[in-house]
Amino acid sequence: MEGEENVLELIRRRASVRRFLDRGVPDEVVEEVVAAGQRAPFTGQMYSVVVTSDPEVRERLGELYGALPRVAPLFALVCVDFRRLERFVAARGRENRADDLTMLFLGIQDAAYAAQNMVLAAEALGLGSCFLGAAPRLAREMTEIFGLPSRVYPLVGLVLGYPAESPPPRPRIPTDLVLHHDRYRDPSDEDVERALAVMDAGLLREGYYGKYSARRDAGSEEKYGWGEHVARKYSTRPGDLETMLELLAEQGVQLRPGEDRDGRD
Ligand SMILES: Cc1cc2nc3c(=O)[nH]c(=O)nc-3n(C[C@H](O)[C@H](O)[C@H](O)COP(=O)(O)O)c2cc1C
Repeated sequence: MEGEENVLELIRRRASVRRFLDRGVPDEVVEEVVAAGQRAPFTGQMYSVVVTSDPEVRERLGELYGALPRVAPLFALVCVDFRRLERFVAARGRENRADDLTMLFLGIQDAAYAAQNMVLAAEALGLGSCFLGAAPRLAREMTEIFGLPSRVYPLVGLVLGYPAESPPPRPRIPTDLVLHHDRYRDPSDEDVERALAVMDAGLLREGYYGKYSARRDAGSEEKYGWGEHVARKYSTRPGDLETMLELLAEQGVQLRPGEDRDGRD
């Protein structure tokens, strides 16, 4: 282990990277990252990762996700994949009878733990990365671009590359609000303010929102912190449950009771 970074140190210093060197990621490194992702605990290994470094595809992805897929040399789409698991079940002459909400709970966990393992492995190999959360809403476009079949649903994008910045670790809310001993404890109003103050101070110190996004509309940039960010994000999001259910159904993932998992093929 000597000379190798301790896992805890790596976890503590990791930060999402949004600026990259113009240098490709070798295939062996990509394979190592994905293989490390696979070492995560799983229930059914219900995920697939589609990677591309194709400049034209990344340009198109840039139109959909914003600048990051253009500036990072590698884009990975992490998908929840029921299809392959169902092949395994069929290979033993049976059929998957679990409902799709249960499947989603499990599949999202499989894919997410693998994705985070990939992030840490990438970091250990000298790469930086950043998740892109719009993938589920871009299911039609992802399906078309990456040829996703029925029962495979895009969960999250991940850009990867050699970093051209080394951002400081970003703040987190105090652990005493996350860790509960014996019984769940609701935060007091003071706890809430304390948590928001910690978050705002850390991100404002870095100049985070001014650096990565044009928040000029927020008035004074100094005032746009995490509190303002989540308040805006979660209070203005359009109700798109119907759209999500429709997109899922198009990929053969059926959350409405009584409907078949036929999807498109
Ligand atoms: C599911 C998910 C979706 C995310 N989507 C985006 C995104 O669309 N754009 C972006 O710049 N960062 C995105 N991020 C990165 C977060 O902004 C980042 O992890 C968070 O601010 C904490 O910062 P850190 O990773 O540097 O500690 C996403 C992270 C997750 C887990």
